Amino acid sequence: MPLTRRTLIAASLSITFALAPLTSVFAASPAPAKGEHGMVVTAQHLASEVGIEVLKKGGNAVDAAVAVGYALAVVYPNAGNIGGGGFMTIRFKDGKSTFLDFRERAPLAATKTMYLDKDGKPVKGASLDGYLAVGVPGSVAGLEMAREKYGKLSRQDLMAPAIGYAREGFILNQGDAASFAGSADRLAKDPAAAAIFLKPDGKPYGIGERLVQPDLAASLAAISERGTDAFYKGAIADAIVKASGAKGGILAKPDFEQYAVRELKPVTCTYRGYEITSSPPPSSGGVIICEILNVLEGYPLSYLGAGSAETVHVMVEAMRYAYVDRNSALGDPDFVVNPVSKLLDKAYARDIRDKIDPFRAGVSQDLMPKGFGESKETTHYSIIDDEGNAVAVTYTLNGSFGAGVVADGTGILLNNEMDDFTQKPGVPNLYGLVQGEANAIQPKKTPLSSMSPTVVAKDGKPFMVIGSPGGSRIITITLEAIVNVIDHGMNIQEAIDAPRIHHQWLPDKVYVEPFGLSPDTEKLLAGMGYHLDLADQTWGQAAGILVGGKSLAEIEKGGGARYNGAIDSRAASGEALGY
Ligand code: GLY
Repeated sequence: MPLTRRTLIAASLSITFALAPLTSVFAASPAPAKGEHGMVVTAQHLASEVGIEVLKKGGNAVDAAVAVGYALAVVYPNAGNIGGGGFMTIRFKDGKSTFLDFRERAPLAATKTMYLDKDGKPVKGASLDGYLAVGVPGSVAGLEMAREKYGKLSRQDLMAPAIGYAREGFILNQGDAASFAGSADRLAKDPAAAAIFLKPDGKPYGIGERLVQPDLAASLAAISERGTDAFYKGAIADAIVKASGAKGGILAKPDFEQYAVRELKPVTCTYRGYEITSSPPPSSGGVIICEILNVLEGYPLSYLGAGSAETVHVMVEAMRYAYVDRNSALGDPDFVVNPVSKLLDKAYARDIRDKIDPFRAGVSQDLMPKGFGESKETTHYSIIDDEGNAVAVTYTLNGSFGAGVVADGTGILLNNEMDDFTQKPGVPNLYGLVQGEANAIQPKKTPLSSMSPTVVAKDGKPFMVIGSPGGSRIITITLEAIVNVIDHGMNIQEAIDAPRIHHQWLPDKVYVEPFGLSPDTEKLLAGMGYHLDLADQTWGQAAGILVGGKSLAEIEKGGGARYNGAIDSRAASGEALGY
C-alpha cells in the first residue's frame, strides 16, 4: 500500500483511537462489481449484459468487445456507433499486446482549408454539423478485424444481440432518455435522424418508452451476412455517398472502398513499476498519459495527498507541458513524424520537472512553440476474460449523435470527427483545443485523437483496464484514475468517481469538478497564481477493472475478488457486470 499522508496520520492516531480500516476512508462510492471469470464494464447496461453473455458462452474478451461494440451502436446511439471510429488496445494473456486503429479518415476530396471562408476565417459549425463534418467511418472494419484475427466466435453470433435490440427495440431508462432529450433540437434538423430518434410529435423518447430501429437492424443484418463489404462496398456506402452529395458533403465511393484498419504497436511506459500499455498516434492519449506520469513519478504524490494544493500544482504543471506537446507535435503517423521516443523519455520528464516552480503556477503563453500560429460523446468499455485477456475500447461519433445526420434507409448515425483536425492553427475546436500544423487536414489522414484505451500490468500480469470519453479531457480522466489507484490507494470505484481536475495548456485555466477542491485548497492554488474554473458540471464516464482486489490494499492482503469492475457514477445507464 502506498505510504500516504493519511496512513501516516492514521498510524500515529491509532495509538490512542480505534480507527475504521483505512480501506473504508473514501466512503462516497458504491462497492465495485465482483467477478471470478470475467468482467464487462460499459456505459449502457444492456451492452454490458451482451458482453457478459458472450464470455459465458465461451467467447474471449475480444469477442465480447466486438459484440459490445455493435450493441452500443443500437442501445447507446449518442456515442456507440458503426458510423464513427475508434481504438482497441488488447493485452493478451501471454503479456503481448496490440492496438487496432479504426478511427475515421479524411475523405479524398478533403482540403486543409475546407472549413474556412474566403477570408480565411473558420465557418461556424461547418466541421460539426451535417455531411461536410463526416470522416470515413472505421468501426465496422475495426470490429471485424478484431473478431477475425483475435476472436473465437462467428460474426453472426456476435452481431445477433445488436440486431435483436434494433429490430425489437429496447426500453429507455432515465440515463438513456436524458441523452436523447439533450440532442432533440439537433436531431430534428435531419429528417432521417428525426424519424428514428424523435416521436411523430417531434418530442424525444422518454423513460419507459421503446426505441425501435428497423433500418439499423437491416444494415446490421447485411453486415452480419456479408461482412465489411456490405458496409464499404455495397448499398450502405452508396446510400451514404448519395446523401452526402445531396447535402453538401464530399464523401465518395472510393473513400469507403479504400478504408483500411491499421494495426499498430501500442505506446508503453512504466510508472512506479507498473507497465502502461495505451494508444499510440493517431491518438495523443497514450503518449501524453505517459509523459505526464513520467513527470509525476518524480513527486511523492501519495504523501502529498489526493486533492491537496501541492498535488494539484504538480499535476497541472505536468499537464500544461504535456498538452503543449500534444497540440503542437502530434498527428497521424502516416503523415507526420511523431517525436514519441523523446516525449516518453524519462530524461525529458526530468527536464520538465526542473522547469516547474515549486511555489508558483506556470504561464501557458510562455510555452508557445515557435511557428505555432465536453461530456463529449465518446464511449469507453473495459473487458477481461477468464484467461486474462484484457481489452480496452474507446470509440466515438465525436459529438453527441455525431454530425446529427443519417443517410436515408441506413439507420446509421454519422460522425463529425473532422472537427478533431486543426481547422486553422491557433483556433480552438469543439473541446477548446488549440492545435498546430501536425494535425492539419489532408486527404486520407486521421485526425489526432485523445482517446486512451489503456491496460496497466504489474509483474507481467494484468492489473487495470481503464479509459473514458471526454474529448481532450480523456487523457487526464484516465491518468487520474490510474494515479488514484496507484498513489492514493483508492479502490477502483473510488478512483473513477473522485472529482477531477483538468488543464490543457490553453486556455490557461484549471478546470475543477463540482466540490473537487476545498475552499482552502482553492485559495492556496489561487495564491500560487492559478486561474480556477469551478465547473457546474462533471465530465467523463470512465469504465475500469482492477485485478486481484478492489484496491491495492486488498490486493496486498490477497483477499479480494479476482476481477473488480467500476462504471463511473457519472454514467447514468452504465453497468459493471462480473461472473
Ligand atoms: N473525438 C474525441 C477524440 O477522439 O479525442
